[in-house]
Amino acid sequence: MRRPVIAGNWKMHKTRAETRVFFQRFLPLVADAEHCDILIAPPFTALSTAVEATRGTRVSIAAQDLHWESEGAFTGEISAGMLVEVGCRAVIVGHSERRLLFGESNEQVARKTLAALAAGLVPIVCLGETLPQREQGCAEQVLQRQFEQSLGALTAEQFSRIMIAYEPVWAIGTGRTATPAMAAAMHRFVRRLVAQQGGETVAEQMRILYGGSVRPDNIVALMNEPEIDGVLVGGASLEAESFAAIVQYPGRGR
Ligand code: PGA
Repeated sequence: MRRPVIAGNWKMHKTRAETRVFFQRFLPLVADAEHCDILIAPPFTALSTAVEATRGTRVSIAAQDLHWESEGAFTGEISAGMLVEVGCRAVIVGHSERRLLFGESNEQVARKTLAALAAGLVPIVCLGETLPQREQGCAEQVLQRQFEQSLGALTAEQFSRIMIAYEPVWAIGTGRTATPAMAAAMHRFVRRLVAQQGGETVAEQMRILYGGSVRPDNIVALMNEPEIDGVLVGGASLEAESFAAIVQYPGRGR
């Protein structure tokens, strides 16, 4: 049994004051949520506020990015050690916005993943095809290339400490969700790649999250797919009530 993960990615939203308000509303709504791991990824400036606000609760804090070096002349960058010191447990790596808007390559994703693992953070590595790639029928090929180039060097032990998020780019922030069956098929494909690389046991245990326009009204259908182990939520994680409704989806814990 893979424990579900409900993760929120705030992207470039929320000041420290807004972060405090969010958790005041959110925490009481999920106080009894024992069926899943809850992660929230605020921007760097709100990480320590979020860590303080969630201390002693079931909610863990993740960062949205990191640099692969531990320190040095890398203006604007943040290392894995800095994230650990602030109290982060996980970090999103290779989000499609990083890849498409900031030119992040698979090779950089690979280095970031290794740096996160070395520091004891759980990397949530994002993979996903664009709309033209899907329309050309090469979504699986794209995923395979991203997988091989970003995760191809990991050992089975390292695989056992990561999560993968399948996020079709055409579904992010567009209101267009992949159908649960379509997402599940891609998750199956990714799990096969994990099995080839890290073995069947690791693949069986790998938590693969779906991301792209997840909302309270589609969470049940997504989580009903046995291949979908959780979700990475952007827009709908910004409001305490909507994110709590996603965490507390009907049928949870079945
Ligand atoms: P969205 O974003 O839920 O707003 O589509 C998902 C993501 O980018 O992780």
